[in-house]
Amino acid sequence: MTNKVLDEYIRVRKKEVDGWLARCDGEIFALLLESQLENGINGAVVEIGVHHGKSFIPMAISNNGRLCYAIDIFENQAFNIDVSGRGDKDVFTRNLTKFGVDANDVFIDERPSTDVTPDDIKRKVGRVRFFHIDGGHHFEAALNDLRLAEAVVSDDGVIAIDDVFRPEWPEVSMALFSYLANKTQDFVPFAIGYNKTYLCRRSFATLYRGILTGSDFLQLYFSKKYEVSNEAILVYQTYALPEWGVRAKISHYMKIYHPDLAFSLKKFLGRVGNRGHVKVDATDQESVRKLE
Ligand SMILES: C[S@@+](CC[C@H](N)C(=O)[O-])C[C@H]1O[C@@H](n2cnc3c(N)ncnc32)[C@H](O)[C@@H]1O
Repeated sequence: MTNKVLDEYIRVRKKEVDGWLARCDGEIFALLLESQLENGINGAVVEIGVHHGKSFIPMAISNNGRLCYAIDIFENQAFNIDVSGRGDKDVFTRNLTKFGVDANDVFIDERPSTDVTPDDIKRKVGRVRFFHIDGGHHFEAALNDLRLAEAVVSDDGVIAIDDVFRPEWPEVSMALFSYLANKTQDFVPFAIGYNKTYLCRRSFATLYRGILTGSDFLQLYFSKKYEVSNEAILVYQTYALPEWGVRAKISHYMKIYHPDLAFSLKKFLGRVGNRGHVKVDATDQESVRKLE
């Protein structure tokens, strides 16, 4: 990765910020954000539910602190009806400063996301290349947030949404499925990370899948390419099973809690890179070549 600050944040320094961002999703964020720039995909970054900034900071770093729109109700927790996290504006702005992002350059919107309109975002920051949804986790909020994202994300942009498929937050899944069943634009999921699902317009899915399959590090988490529907989805998550033996359990633990060590070990054993088990299909390889 060419952006050293971003790389260090994802690998090491994100631990300094309270919140939720697994290494796998951190890598996916950084890879998508930086590859967008390399491919001339510019624009704003938006997050709903910034909390203390853990997942917003890499987005802001990638945009050099410019064209950043942060939404959180912060101290107005009466609006946080499903009690998902608890934003704190002072901690958030302190964390931005700590990581070299001028908080005055970030547009901070303290309303519930259901009050934010596409025009509010477009007026402040214009077209959006990366929109992360991690605010209210109930059906109405999550569906609203998907529709808001759809309305402001550029043709070549990405929507990431947290906690889909997570049993603790069933209504996030319900909202995504409902959104996909009734969508007015052709957004499709192209990848599932540790705890986030990634969408883009269908015409860009091959490009974005190619970006992810080009990463040796991500192969550590790769479990399958789901190809039953008409658009393939890369899955970078595996649920631990009671039937697993000791080796699988240790491997799972290492990937989550000691990813760099797990990666070094896997490289040493010759199980990543071109010799790995990950099948990159011809169309995806074509996309990777476009990036080189
Ligand atoms: C799970 S936390 C977000 C975690 C964060 N993205 C991180 O990187 O650690 C959810 C956040 O959404 C905020 N929130 C909850 N309901 C909201 C709503 N309706 N509109 C905007 N923000 C909301 C909460 O205050 C909380 O900070």
